[in-house]
Amino acid sequence: MSKLIPVSELTEDAARKELARLADQLSRANTLYHAEDAPEISDAAYDALKRRNAEIETRFPSLKRKDSPSEQVGARPTDGFSKVIHAVRMMSLGNAFDDEDVHDFDRSIRKYLGLDASKPLSYSAEPKIDGLSLSLRYEKGKLVQAATRGDGEVGENVTANARTISDIPQILENAPNVLEVRGEVYMSHADFEQLNARQLEAGEKTFANPRNAAAGSLRQLDSTVTRARPLRFFAYAWGELSEPLADTQIDAIERLHDFGFVTNPLTRQCDTTEQILGHYRDIEAQRSTLGYDIDGVVYKVNDLSLQTRLGYRSTTPRWAIAHKFPAELAWTRLEAIDIQVGRTGALSPVARLHSVTVGGVVVSNATLHNEDYIAGRDAKGGTIRDGKDIRVGDWVQVYRAGDVIPKIADVDISKRPEGATPFEFPTICPECNSDAVREEGDAVRRCTGGVICPAQAVEKLKHFVSRKAFDIDGLGAKQIEMFYDDPDLPVRTPVDIFTLQQRDSANLNKLANRKGWGAQSAGNLWAAIDEKRTIPFGRLLFALGIRHMGEAASNLVANHYGTWSEFERAVTSAADFEGPEWEDLLSVDGVGEVMARALVSAFAQEAERASIDALVAQLEVQEAKRPDTEGSPVDGKTVVFTGTLEKMTRAEAKARAEALGAKVSGSVSKKTDLLVAGPGAGSKAKKAAELGIETLDEDGWLQLIGTA
Ligand code: IVH
Repeated sequence: MSKLIPVSELTEDAARKELARLADQLSRANTLYHAEDAPEISDAAYDALKRRNAEIETRFPSLKRKDSPSEQVGARPTDGFSKVIHAVRMMSLGNAFDDEDVHDFDRSIRKYLGLDASKPLSYSAEPKIDGLSLSLRYEKGKLVQAATRGDGEVGENVTANARTISDIPQILENAPNVLEVRGEVYMSHADFEQLNARQLEAGEKTFANPRNAAAGSLRQLDSTVTRARPLRFFAYAWGELSEPLADTQIDAIERLHDFGFVTNPLTRQCDTTEQILGHYRDIEAQRSTLGYDIDGVVYKVNDLSLQTRLGYRSTTPRWAIAHKFPAELAWTRLEAIDIQVGRTGALSPVARLHSVTVGGVVVSNATLHNEDYIAGRDAKGGTIRDGKDIRVGDWVQVYRAGDVIPKIADVDISKRPEGATPFEFPTICPECNSDAVREEGDAVRRCTGGVICPAQAVEKLKHFVSRKAFDIDGLGAKQIEMFYDDPDLPVRTPVDIFTLQQRDSANLNKLANRKGWGAQSAGNLWAAIDEKRTIPFGRLLFALGIRHMGEAASNLVANHYGTWSEFERAVTSAADFEGPEWEDLLSVDGVGEVMARALVSAFAQEAERASIDALVAQLEVQEAKRPDTEGSPVDGKTVVFTGTLEKMTRAEAKARAEALGAKVSGSVSKKTDLLVAGPGAGSKAKKAAELGIETLDEDGWLQLIGTA
């Protein structure tokens, strides 16, 4: 790649030639991308070309071509595949690990719906396929689009690839006008073995397990490669529908089967939790002979109208759960214990293991949780593993459950090498030598270095750019480590990322001359950073890495406040952990006191606040969207429920009101817009009457929200 001449130094003639070349390159890139789904250049590279074109046109307006690429609308999405916004979000599932979790699941559903244990409640139960989910959209019976799950809201358009899978019908007879069928793409054991043998023979890479093989095959830019891969598909759910499929889950699956989809033959209706657990054991007994990987059994409330009433938590339905099979185990030698310092200062012990295969995956690291865990104690001073501690050199049992980090379950002290000594957990931070202290009630020892601890700062930055946070193309953990210590272009806090380009150009664009870099890759990075200057509120909040603020919680908070400025105002006013803004924060479903304190404290901390404000000044923070609240009669209103509700439980009433954009509060004040009072309402109804607040009974409320 020849080096780019700065636009300011271009002669008119060179500019004309370059504009012609850019028009050509961009038009070719567009065709390959949109028409053939086979792009040759990355999105960041594409954006860099577009920017270069615009810069030249700005300097030489008279040279702007008739077919100028800047007149063509439509930005390319960030990956090789175009993006698809799912009409109905693709959810994940909560997990149950033992029988008791399943009983709890049944109890919580009954509680939510107000059904006592004597009332019938059936479920469907079917294997949980270990593949990757796919959403297929049919319009007037024709397959028009196939999309991967992505982050649940936005997936990748893999239509051309899905068309090559023979289990996926292209045409459906008598189907609803709009029908989105969802299910799992997977590879059978036999096909996986054959594929790997072929790959090996051809000198190509082999896959670690059938799931990776299926994912790698579906996400091929060249659909002829996908066609040659033996992918299969089980249908088990649906997204957007122009008309309902059936009244029950079991009947809906039957209809999908009638349309020509493959549905799992082990799908059963179960009328009691005992039947559910019986079916789980049946499936578990057949697991090794099914010929494809499954990792549990999924239970779904059978009655679809009850599914609707139960609705969703932020990313999982209340009406379904995945009952996982027990984890896979293996024994190996513990070679060392390292201490890693995380973004919140936690000192986390990591087991370095002699590599071992656990359930088809090679494992060489496992978490050891904390010092008590190593010592064989639990947080309450009781014993774990019968009090056996873990020492370097020990023979340990490793297990993996799902995609989580491997863990150590047990230790065989009969094989302990002579002279092995108990592990001494450090009391100073191995990264910055600050004291590492354990606060009362905290299982974790933390570095007290705060901003001076480079490990914390680096981890915070890595979290900031991670996939579920800013997800900046070309700026991952490795680059963060490079920039953190960079003498010319240091990145110490998130805002530094957004001033990088400006600082580099003040520094004579030196980045482009470094080893491993060039004008192209530097340009790509600036483009990728610029692309993320517009960011959804929930993502930004999660990216800040505030303790206890996970992805789901960040989205809940974002949805509650809507705009960043409103949120900022509210957390600032809640600084004393009291008053209406504090109460309001605590009222957010899913936000507990510990989380609320961490959030408010982060914004009250001067240095942290300054760093957040400087960052936000570089960004455009998108309002959090409240799904389905448009046109809702209670959107933005504050509602209080009091007295006995007869048609639904309090929990259900609250969740429904919130889904419609209302804030549900526990007490009546001047801010209350509506009181819903059932029989037995007392002081709240009186207070509402005094304040002249509109009051409805339960039927009136149901009529208002259109579900009477
Ligand atoms: S139902 C709203 N059923 O598991 C519920 N999911 O951990 C949608 N999966 O993303 C999912 N087998 O990829 C459902 N029989 C099954 C499944 C299944 C596998 C996957 C699916 C989902 C993930 C959640």
